[in-house]
Amino acid sequence: MNLILLGPPGAGKGTQAQFICEEYGVPQISTGDMLRAAVAAETELGRRAKTCMDAGELVPDAVVVGIVAERLSQSDCAPGFILDGFPRTVAQADALANELAVAAKKIDAVISFRVDPDALVERLTGRRTCRLCGAGFHVNFSPPVHEGKCDRCGGELVQRADDREETIRRRLQVYDSQTSPLIDYYAKSGVLKVVDGMLPIDEVRSAVKEAIGSV
Ligand code: AP5
Ligand code: MG
Repeated sequence: MNLILLGPPGAGKGTQAQFICEEYGVPQISTGDMLRAAVAAETELGRRAKTCMDAGELVPDAVVVGIVAERLSQSDCAPGFILDGFPRTVAQADALANELAVAAKKIDAVISFRVDPDALVERLTGRRTCRLCGAGFHVNFSPPVHEGKCDRCGGELVQRADDREETIRRRLQVYDSQTSPLIDYYAKSGVLKVVDGMLPIDEVRSAVKEAIGSV
């Protein structure tokens, strides 16, 4: 099962990707997480990516396409994968299609999350992520049992550097101009499944399962 999760910042891509991973046993490939790992490790790639990410801009296509191609070639992706946050431009989508064609693979479904812009800002300003295991929480919508501590591993919960309101606004503009054209792109190829991302997390989870079930 090869899936793409498509949606604006804060739409719930990461939240739902974790559920799908647990349920179907296929890896989550989050370009945002991979880039943040490179930033934390202070690699050359990380240093270049940080400038773009802190400004709410996209990292250049060639960089992201390269890291995804490398990741998809690893053996755990053989039974399937969930792309979370990639592709984000038409050029990335074309590059992915070429990579998959060479490997005789295809995308089975693109789950597109529809969420009101005001809700996105509220979700992102309240998001907290575990520093150790990456589990996601929200101070109001999905709070941890003990404030500031991860339910899964006890790690410290932190706020992402790009979750400041002005950066969020820029990320939303970038989504509208560069990423939202992918909704039509995948609708034309017949793989698009639209899910109402405004529902509570568990209901979105059920809707995603239903969408995957019909693949
Ligand atoms: P990335 O990490 O991908 O961020 P994003 O796309 O902006 O998306 P988010 O991770 O912010 O949101 P999400 O949809 O995962 O929401 P979540 O589930 O956490 O990218 C970061 C940066 O890296 C980019 O800006 C760019 O610079 C760079 N980058 C990454 N990929 C790239 C690419 N392909 N090309 C170029 N550059 C790239 O949910 C958010 C919050 O809401 C959580 O607190 C959650 O608990 C809560 N929540 C979730 N669902 C619900 C619900 N149904 N109801 C209420 N609350 C909910
Ligand atoms: Mg995410």
